[in-house]
Amino acid sequence: MRIAVVGSGYVGLVAGACLADLGHDVQLVDNDGSKVAALQAGQIPIHEEHLPELFRRHHGRQLRFTESLPEAVRNSQAVFVAVGTPPTEQGEADLSYVESVAREISGAIHGYTVIVEKSTVPVYTSDWVRRVMLRNATAADTFDVVSNPEFLREGTAVVDFLYPDRIVIGADNPRSAAVLREIYAPLISGSYYERPDAISGPASAKVPPPLIVTSAKSAELIKHASNAFLAMKISFINAVATICESVGANVEQVCQGIGSDSRIGRRFLNPGIGYGGSCFPKDLMAFRSVARECGYEFRLLDEVMRINEEQRNRFLRKIRNALWTLRGKRLGVLGLAFKGGTDDIRESPAMALVQCLLQEGCQIAAYDPAAAERARGVLNSSVEFVNSPYEAATGADALLILTEWEEFATLDLKRLQKVLKYSIVIDGRNLYDCETMAALGFTYYSVGRPSTVPDSPAENGTAAAGKLTKA
Ligand SMILES: NC(=O)c1ccc[n+]([C@@H]2O[C@H](COP(=O)([O-])OP(=O)(O)OC[C@H]3O[C@@H](n4cnc5c(N)ncnc54)[C@H](O)[C@@H]3O)[C@@H](O)[C@H]2O)c1
Repeated sequence: MRIAVVGSGYVGLVAGACLADLGHDVQLVDNDGSKVAALQAGQIPIHEEHLPELFRRHHGRQLRFTESLPEAVRNSQAVFVAVGTPPTEQGEADLSYVESVAREISGAIHGYTVIVEKSTVPVYTSDWVRRVMLRNATAADTFDVVSNPEFLREGTAVVDFLYPDRIVIGADNPRSAAVLREIYAPLISGSYYERPDAISGPASAKVPPPLIVTSAKSAELIKHASNAFLAMKISFINAVATICESVGANVEQVCQGIGSDSRIGRRFLNPGIGYGGSCFPKDLMAFRSVARECGYEFRLLDEVMRINEEQRNRFLRKIRNALWTLRGKRLGVLGLAFKGGTDDIRESPAMALVQCLLQEGCQIAAYDPAAAERARGVLNSSVEFVNSPYEAATGADALLILTEWEEFATLDLKRLQKVLKYSIVIDGRNLYDCETMAALGFTYYSVGRPSTVPDSPAENGTAAAGKLTKA
């Protein structure tokens, strides 16, 4: 099928490349000329596993790039809208990008076209897009608007798109639903997974994925409610971690105990420094606004957000407790992206913490496997960007782990100890085992677990084995 994807960011680019891999003829559109030029030249502006492979397969053939929306839309049977929906100052979703795309599409379609909402949007957006199209003199029988929310996670976006837990199609009539079924047919029928060149997915993937067909409004709500629920799960376990710290319990053991209940599940019960990224913070605010407009004060969401903010502040206090004063301290920082596996620093709790530490007068040596370039553009020049975790740790008063990259979980701890000024690790992602850190003589703080404080702290890794204490 001929498909246009409007917006070539994290979602549009991944969706476009994956749709090409499903056999469709895809034109990706963006109004950022430099981005389009880079994409046309084969450069991939984001860090995402498997995208280079999909580019090698389809670039310039089934996957093309243009700045011209009318050109891409004119011959397409479906137009995916994947532009940003950032928050307004009041916390609502700013839908002006979606509206302007709808206006542009209205002047460009020829023949029956399905407009697919891929962006995360509040309930009623499909109605509004329809209204905008009609106001701009598009004949009612030449288009439909369908909601097809995207659940991919940055870092594993390609695999998430091709091996989704479910495909949700929010269509208000059978004709438009049929177009979406056809688009996803290789996944729904399972034929994609039989191809020898299929991108491989996790062993646990449900193949083929279930298809859930709903009304457009239900699909819009599914996306907002899913993100709100996931954020709630994170804040819940962070709140439990706080209690664990004050009583000397271990939140990992608690997670194992509650997560093995099949009604709850282990995933997303990961205590840390709070959620971030371009989705959860804005989607929670947008969902709260939607509820308010419906006359319902969704106070639970306020609390989820409050716990998230408090979690970051608690971590800052933990750093202070470990180091006493901060001015002039040299800190090694591992991780700047909002989570592992991505270069995305939008609403990154790691970035927020680094900014606070800079304000407090710390010197920072930071390492991130993918996000350093983006971070350099935002952080002031006093941050030293280094090329390895060991460089970040060299001469540091303490090492902070802020993002859960796999690379950070497999460090050579003895080497680390040799290069650190003091053997202090403050781990916001619980990547290390407390007993191991204690045995090696680290002063080790993590989230919701007992801290390790050696009996006789010393410089350069000569510390005696430590004991576990309450956090
Ligand atoms: N990033 C995620 O993990 C994720 C996951 C699921 C859903 N979403 C949702 O998908 C949407 C897009 O998110 P993203 O992270 O890809 O955003 P992004 O900022 O990375 O990409 C948006 C792109 O749209 C382009 N754009 C804006 N207006 C345009 C226009 N009029 N014409 C053509 N291009 C235009 C921008 O230049 C940009 O390249 C958002 O609603 C987001 O909430 C994001």
